[in-house]
Amino acid sequence: MEQVRIGVIGCGIGAIHLEGYEQEPRAKIMAIAGLDEDRCAQLVQRFNIPQRYRDYRDMLENPEIDAVSVAVPNHLHAEVALAALEAGKHVLVEKPLARTIAEAEQIVRAGAVSGKVLGTIFDKRGRCDMEYVGKLAHAGYFGELYYVKAFWVRRSGIPGLGSWFTKKELSGGGPLIDLGVHMLDLSLWMLGNPDVTTISASTFAKLGPQGKGNWPRGRFQTVAGEEYGVEDLATAFLRTSNGATVQLEVSWASFMHETDAYGVEIMGDKGGARVYVKDYAKVGEVQLFSDLNGAMIDTTPRLYEQHSHGRMISNFMDAIVDGVPMSPNGDEGLNRVRLLEAIYESAERGRELEFGV
Ligand SMILES: NC(=O)c1ccc[n+]([C@@H]2O[C@H](COP(=O)([O-])OP(=O)(O)OC[C@H]3O[C@@H](n4cnc5c(N)ncnc54)[C@H](O)[C@@H]3O)[C@@H](O)[C@H]2O)c1
Repeated sequence: MEQVRIGVIGCGIGAIHLEGYEQEPRAKIMAIAGLDEDRCAQLVQRFNIPQRYRDYRDMLENPEIDAVSVAVPNHLHAEVALAALEAGKHVLVEKPLARTIAEAEQIVRAGAVSGKVLGTIFDKRGRCDMEYVGKLAHAGYFGELYYVKAFWVRRSGIPGLGSWFTKKELSGGGPLIDLGVHMLDLSLWMLGNPDVTTISASTFAKLGPQGKGNWPRGRFQTVAGEEYGVEDLATAFLRTSNGATVQLEVSWASFMHETDAYGVEIMGDKGGARVYVKDYAKVGEVQLFSDLNGAMIDTTPRLYEQHSHGRMISNFMDAIVDGVPMSPNGDEGLNRVRLLEAIYESAERGRELEFGV
């Protein structure tokens, strides 16, 4: 079998992409690019990577590379993805697809022109717990779905005060664009991707500007004296075209009981489910809710860990090798960026906005 030859750009979450490619028989890891010597050198050693680049553009010139993962800070997604598509590579971009609608549209347009596969990483869809509940939702197990509550909250989890994450021009936003994009994507994916019709949201920046709320265990460097330029908490309420509603809550830092937790609760007229993931547990708590003979029934499925980035990478290989439509694709990435911008706009204007009109 001919393998797809892979280059990974970025050595942070890029390491998790490498894990995914390593366990995928249709992929062959060829190269890594990154500016940080130490992290790149460690990855070269750990994954036995034949080629190492500092400048991603040099990697893209290599005709032996068929596909790349883009795992660089958000402000570079568009630049790198566009260059990679231009160089004729298949491209898998970390979430969020881009900082702004304009950038995300450019990427999607370039993807269509290139004829190459363009995917967005929404890896939480590939977790065993979320995938299990998502598949049940799609199969109609819960009946007509009408309400999703999704959250990702941290007590003290700003990924590097003063780093690129906390600068609006580099990240595009705070926990909403960083964590909220996952939960927004999961909510809409579980609901079957209905159109969103209205959005009402609020954002706050209360702890970050005080220099509080940094992630103590983070792999991110703190840069002293930098202004905190993004929100640290956001809430949003969305209505969809099929009558369902989504309630979203995200924070990097807030005085609350969780250190780090995310989850989804989904409700239909025949049943419901709850997924709760505490402190990055590999397998979250899953409960299914239904009724039987007039009694309330709670079911707890036993699930096994699966590599969530690996699931996305397997979809990427299906698309490249067998022509299966990529999921999640660039259009879904763009849709989520549009929603994020509208959420920020609603928060700024302090009122509900119509979406997509
Ligand atoms: N899906 C997830 O669970 C998840 C988790 C973390 C981060 N992310 C996303 O991944 C992306 C990267 O985040 P991170 O946490 O790895 O950031 P990071 O700062 O830890 O790492 C960024 C990497 O990009 C490299 N880089 C920067 N500029 C470069 C350039 N010009 N050429 C080549 N390499 C360059 C850096 O050297 C570094 O290796 C972000 O978009 C973030 O939103 C996703």
